[in-house]
Amino acid sequence: MKRSPSAVRPHRSAEQADAFRTLFRQQGDRLWNADRDVDWAAGSEIPDARRAAWLRMMNVFLGLEVMGLDTIQVMMSQATHQVRDPALNLYLAAQCQDEARHVYVLDRYLTEVDGHGYISKPEEFLIERFGGMASWGLYRVENWLTSTLFSENFAALFLQQALELDDVDPLAKQIFRLILRDEVRHVNFLHTILPLLIDRLPAAGRLYVWQSQLLLAGAVALGLRRIKADVAALGIDVDVYKATLIENLGAQFEDAGLDSFLKIDTYARVINAAT
Ligand SMILES: [Fe+2]
Ligand SMILES: [Fe+2]
Repeated sequence: MKRSPSAVRPHRSAEQADAFRTLFRQQGDRLWNADRDVDWAAGSEIPDARRAAWLRMMNVFLGLEVMGLDTIQVMMSQATHQVRDPALNLYLAAQCQDEARHVYVLDRYLTEVDGHGYISKPEEFLIERFGGMASWGLYRVENWLTSTLFSENFAALFLQQALELDDVDPLAKQIFRLILRDEVRHVNFLHTILPLLIDRLPAAGRLYVWQSQLLLAGAVALGLRRIKADVAALGIDVDVYKATLIENLGAQFEDAGLDSFLKIDTYARVINAAT
């Protein structure tokens, strides 16, 4: 791996460096504090009938954030070297801090409600596989960022739908609103960087990334199948969730000019077949 300090390299594109700096500043402006900005004293209310399903979802969610934090730390420097833009490191450091805060706040939540450990080995295994697949093999920077577009959308939709449920723990709702604030920015970042990265990929690279992404989407869909009953027990309609996810992803692929390369129809087939 290249280890030259990317900070001394000139920016490839002043415009792109500005876009990364703007995202960096936005993170600083909207920064929240997991201890002070959540009213922990208000306490949590989890209906008994939904407690087990709810805590499994929250454990899976924490697992995904832990995996996301680990992956971004492995990939930051590689991405900066690949794009050859020191401003990318600035922004990724900020996003890394966001993910650290997500891990911290969910861990504290599960501690407060005595809810750790509601996760099975196969779920843990799938989460670990997802992290491995997202940062391994050829074209790993492109693969990582493309998989992030998928996982950020997946998480943001879960947060949005959980916020609409009537009897979801109000303490968790406070936390979800804060996390969602960050995840929206993470998606904006992907829209800034992905078109450029994919544009530079040779045809074989595109095919490789596309195939890796389908494997990855399949792994996530398998995970969704495992927690389908829990999701349904919380009052989220899994079929509506999947249809909305595919619709959102399709719109985003088009928006970022990635639709001809990522082909939402194939994603839809993989997601539907695995669930
Ligand atoms: Fe996160
Ligand atoms: Fe994120």
